[in-house]
Amino acid sequence: MAGLKSLPLLQLILPLFFVSNQQVVAVTLTFMNNCPYTVWPATLTAGGHPQLSTTGFELASGSSNAINDVPASWSGRLWGRTLCAPDNAGRFTCQTADCGSGKVECGGAGGNPPASLAELTLNGSGGNDFYDISLVDGFSIPLSLTPHGGTGGCSATSCPSDINSVCPPELSLKGSDGKVVGCKSACLVFNKPEYCCKGDNGTPETCPPTNYSKIFKDKCPQAYSYAYDDKTSTFTCPAGANYVVTFCP
Ligand SMILES: *[C@@H]1O[C@H](CO)[C@@H](O)[C@H](O)[C@H]1NC(C)=O
Ligand SMILES: *[C@@H]1O[C@H](CO)[C@@H](O)[C@H](O)[C@H]1NC(C)=O
Repeated sequence: MAGLKSLPLLQLILPLFFVSNQQVVAVTLTFMNNCPYTVWPATLTAGGHPQLSTTGFELASGSSNAINDVPASWSGRLWGRTLCAPDNAGRFTCQTADCGSGKVECGGAGGNPPASLAELTLNGSGGNDFYDISLVDGFSIPLSLTPHGGTGGCSATSCPSDINSVCPPELSLKGSDGKVVGCKSACLVFNKPEYCCKGDNGTPETCPPTNYSKIFKDKCPQAYSYAYDDKTSTFTCPAGANYVVTFCP
């Protein structure tokens, strides 16, 4: 009798336990915009897993916004779009890193290169987080990724420099006002194996840095400047930290 009586109580308690447990293990991802202009952050979950509760929003200069319900084992990429406005047909469009959805929310679409990316895998191999800033798809705006809390002592990674100001003309993406708003990768522009690390150049040994990737590496030594730039560009932290993406750190 006592066991039967306690059943409804258990049914009440168990879901509560799971809800609070999920909240405890969920990770907070905060976006901060230190740029003197509006940025529209975007998120893309990797590997066909569900998208986050937001896949795009507006972030005014000087403001911040947090996503509190990021799953503890989430993996994906984060970036910022700039110079966004509705086009003539009313479709939301950005001059850099546009995701083509026609809306502020990207809804599972990636950013059009050139786009500076923050890449994050939570609770991956060995119970560690892995993260990096990638310029493999080119550069759009300066950004950093900083772990907070958790075990502490984990390093931030950052691309704080404006690579647009040193971008060679053949890689430059110009905005509607004629200013350089992005710097494309040599792979995107020339589509050659030595720049894309494909074909005969498909291994770390056969795909060394190039004169173009070095332009990115000189300005942002912590960021991936081409596909096999792992040694200096991948960061790790025991799982459990929260993360802050800062635009114009
Ligand atoms: C990079 O090297 C290529 C091929 O050697 C050359 O055509 C190009 O002008 C160089 N670009 C820069 C920015 O050094
Ligand atoms: C990481 O994942 C494992 C299961 O794969 C889980 O047991 C552990 O609690 C997770 N750690 C964190 C900090 O979420």
